[in-house]
Order: sequence, then C-alpha cells, then structure tokens
Amino acid sequence: MAAYELIDHEFDVVVVGAGGAGLRATLGMAEQGFNTACITKVFPTRSHTVAAQGGIAASLQNMGPDSWQWHMYDTVKGSDWLGDNDAMEYLAREAPAAIYELEHYGVPFSRTQDGKIYQRPFGGHMTEFGDGPPVQRTCAAADRTGHAILHTLYGQSVKNDAQFFIEYFALDLIMGPNGECQGVIAWKLDDGTLHRFRAKMVVLATGGYGRSYFSATSAHTCTGDGNGMVARAGLPLQDMEFVQFHPTGIYGAGVLITEGARGEGGYLTNSEGERFMERYAPNAKDLASRDVVSRCMTLEIREGRGVGPKKDHIYLHLDHLDPKVLHERLPGITESAKIFAGVDLTREPIPVLPTVHYNMGGIPANYHGEVLNPTANDPNRIVPGLMAVGEAACASVHGANRLGSNSLTDLVVFGRAAAIRAGKVIDRAAPVPGINQAEDAKILTRLDRLRNANGSQPTAKLRDEMQRTMQADAAVFRTDASLKNGVAAMSEIYSRLADIKVSDRSLIWNSDLVETLELENLMACAMATVVSAEARHESRGAHAHEDFPNRDDVEWRKHTLASVDIETGAVELSYRPVITDPLTPYDQGGIDLKKIAPKARVY
Ligand code: FUM
Repeated sequence: MAAYELIDHEFDVVVVGAGGAGLRATLGMAEQGFNTACITKVFPTRSHTVAAQGGIAASLQNMGPDSWQWHMYDTVKGSDWLGDNDAMEYLAREAPAAIYELEHYGVPFSRTQDGKIYQRPFGGHMTEFGDGPPVQRTCAAADRTGHAILHTLYGQSVKNDAQFFIEYFALDLIMGPNGECQGVIAWKLDDGTLHRFRAKMVVLATGGYGRSYFSATSAHTCTGDGNGMVARAGLPLQDMEFVQFHPTGIYGAGVLITEGARGEGGYLTNSEGERFMERYAPNAKDLASRDVVSRCMTLEIREGRGVGPKKDHIYLHLDHLDPKVLHERLPGITESAKIFAGVDLTREPIPVLPTVHYNMGGIPANYHGEVLNPTANDPNRIVPGLMAVGEAACASVHGANRLGSNSLTDLVVFGRAAAIRAGKVIDRAAPVPGINQAEDAKILTRLDRLRNANGSQPTAKLRDEMQRTMQADAAVFRTDASLKNGVAAMSEIYSRLADIKVSDRSLIWNSDLVETLELENLMACAMATVVSAEARHESRGAHAHEDFPNRDDVEWRKHTLASVDIETGAVELSYRPVITDPLTPYDQGGIDLKKIAPKARVY
C-alpha cells in the first residue's frame, strides 16, 4: 500500500454534513463555545436541504386553531404507529420554539397581512385529532423554504466561529476499543490530502440515500454516506424498508413539485378528468398522507386511468388558481414546470408520477440525537461519542411514513436537540481521544484498495443496475415475488463490488473514486432496504405489501435492525420494540394515550 500521511485536527465536536440538520447542530454546538468543525463534501448551501420547497411544520396557530398535541397525533397516525412516541412528542412540542429561533436568526419567511409567519396546509396535517378539516401548519418561505433556512444557518454558523472543511469526503469513523466513536478520517478533494479529525463527539448529518433508486427527487449527492460508515463500523441500520415516494415528481424528470401546490388548492386528475382522491380519501382528499396519495395514483394508472399516450402518469392541476398565488407562493415550481415539463402551469396541468423522495429509516438514534447500538437486553444502548440527526437518522420520528413538511422540522428540532445534549454530556476539560493506529490503517487500506481497484465492473454500470433493481423490486407496491427477486438481484450485484474498476488513480478531484466510495455506501443501504422489506410480512405506511395487505400490530409493531456484512452484503435482521410512552403524562399537559392508540388509518 502507498504511504499516506494524515494531517491532524482536534475538536470538541465534528459534524459531518452541512444540510439543515448538520448546520443546526453545528450552530448549536458553536454557540455554546464548543470548538466545532463541520465537514462537508459539497459547499454548505448546495446541500440537498436547499431543494426543500413547501415548508416546515409547527403549530404556531397563525392561521387558525392548532396545538402541538394535534401535530403529534397527525405525526403518530402518519407514521402508521411505528414512530417512537417520545421522539414524536419532542418534535411536535419543540417545533414552535425551533421556528421562532429560525425567525430570529433571520430566515425570510413569507408573511400574512398582519406580519406573522405564513402557514399553508400540507398532506396529513389536520385539526381536532384528525377529525376536523386540514390545518394550516406548514410555515413557508414561498416554495424555497429549505433554501432560506440553509443560507441563514450557514451565515449564523460562520458568525459563531464554527470551522468549515468544505469539499472534504468523510471516509470512515474512527471507532475505539469500547465501541466508542473517536473521530473521522476525511479526504480533501481538491488537493488530495487526508485528514484525521479526533473529537469528543461526532455528529452524522449526511442525509438520505435516495440515489439507490433510479428516479428520485434527491440530489445526486444523497448517497447514504453516514449510513455506510455506520454499517462499516459494525452498527445496525433501522427501519430501512420504509422508503417514501412523493406523489408529485415531474413525469420523466423526477423533479419535485411541492405538496404545497396541493396545499394552495391544486388537485390531481386521471384520464377521465376525475378528481379521484375524493373517492379514496373523502375527508383529506388531495391532502391525504403522501404514502396514501402515491398508492392511489399508482392504482389509477394500473387500472388504465393514467394520462398521456402511454397512460402512465397523472395530472396535477394548478391552472385554476389565481396567477398572483402562483407568483407569490409557488414561484419555484412555476419555473420547474416550465423547464422540466415544458408546461405553463397557469394554463395546463403538470404531468406527475410518484417518485422516491425520503428515507424514513437510517441510523438508530434517541430523541437527543445519540446513536443506538441496541441489544436484546438494552434496546436503547448508546454509542458513546456518536450522534446522528436529520434524514441520516431514525429517531424514530417518522415511523413507516413521514408527513410532508415534518422533515425540515426534524432537521432543526433534532439538530438543536443534539447540541443541547452535547452541552450536557461533553466533558470540556477532558482531552480529545488519542491516535488509534489500527483504525487509521483499516480506513486507509480501504481507500487504497478502491483507488487501485482494477476489476471488470465500472462503478457507473453497477450503480445503474442497483438503481434499476431497487426501482423495480422495492417500489410503491411490493410483493413476495418482487422482494425475493430484489434480494437475489441485489445480492448478485453486491458480490460484483469485489470486482469493481476505478480508472483514475489520482487523489485530486477524482470523481471516479468519489462515486465508488458513494456506491459502497449506497449498496449497503440498498441491501439493508430490500432484505428488511422482504422480511416484513405486513403493510404499514410506505411498505405496501400486496401479499400481506393489512397492518399487523401484534407481530410487526416493531423496528427492524439490519446489520450488513460489508464483505459479503449479507444482512442479519433483529428487532427492537417501538417506544410507546410519550414524554409528558396526560395529567401534566401531555397527549391523551387513548388518542394515540393504534387504529385503522383513514383520511
Ligand atoms: O412537497 C414538498 O414540498 C416536500 C416537503 C417535504 O418532503 O417535507
């Protein structure tokens, strides 16, 4: 192996990833005076959060009655009773404070006539514990909410002296002899140097792994890098079978058309011009939860009522809305519809199709952001020195299906929670962990192996096969046959990683090597997803299994834990119980347990 020199850095906290969760954690750490680094493979304001459109949910009550208990109820129901009640309460209860903080940091939210933060309806967010009409709970900065949040948090982090390591690719976690995390090694992409960051706390905020599928609203950078690092550290991934399809990706391009479009009055039609969601979800209609809407669209297409020459998509209508609303509230999608579908949405409907959008599963964590390595005796065992937040994590606040606009809430609430926790558990007087040569050697050996890989399988070819397999076999609807086929096909594709070919041997702007490292991360995620899905013999949230069409709370109200053998791709499954106790007792202002007991999920 070539000799690799490591450049050393010591920090109290190292955050990996600079999207909404990473930046909120970075800011919270730096504000408390922690010596904080943020490592990111793209410039912070290019992180995928920049693409978040419709908004961020919080029960501010600016547009009408609302409460955190209603928000919690909707989140529990949206999760199809797989979310953890402590984390879901924390999200709903802390959301208003987190939004006001964003406002004070400078996020330019859209405003009501009287100057309050504007809020719009979003799918699955209702009044009266689901019994009333949709609520206006989603705080918006036009349809560029993620963009506004990201720029504000980056500016605030710089102001608070966080140090940014931009265009550094995190290779792997440095794990200590007692299972603790001691830091991370990263490759600086523009000059080829390698950097060892030793830290008292590492926070993984690396986002989702949408790019394990062929058609996704996620950026090409969404490659599950933190999940891959965790899997290589021998830690499990949780609930990976739950992959969300957003109802309105632009047909053919996959580009997101925000659910805010339906929040502002848009609706879906089939080839008969029928507003079919009225049939499936008489109360919420087009604002039913997105797993429900995606399934209904797929059923309409399957039953021959799709639109277009191939009858393979659906129309989203905004052409009846006042152009002023489109201009003020939805300028971004007006532009996207023109560029990616050639549609003037003041006159024509947009062709749309359910498109992979979000990963409910990820790195198991508690509501403080601490990563878990559960055992049968201790399902909540903490990995010292390691946190995970945002889409990379599974808190589990979204369970089997996330509600639209709860993702940005998750990012800021749990990014903030991680900083609060770090303030309590980090010993400021303690030294950073020492050098761990065995771990360094392991990480560098892997880098060297991939850099010099001279097999017969180009990275792009394996990636394409993985993406097509996942798209075909672990889709909106799944069957025993499709999932068994998916497991077999993915296992075969995974086995060919050992024969991968990297053509560029340099360490400077080597996109071939970056994509290969990303592919290994994606493959670990894809294997965990398809194996976990094959094993789950029920339908719940985004996991719609046609051979097991009902939810089975007796057998399956539990989290899947998937441990991936990185050498072979084999996945070992175990399970941990759902946390059913909320944080606040009913008689102290918490939610009534009877309200959140499992029941049929209808909208
Ligand atoms: O539709 C959207 O604007 C997406 C929001 C979300 O995924 O939370």
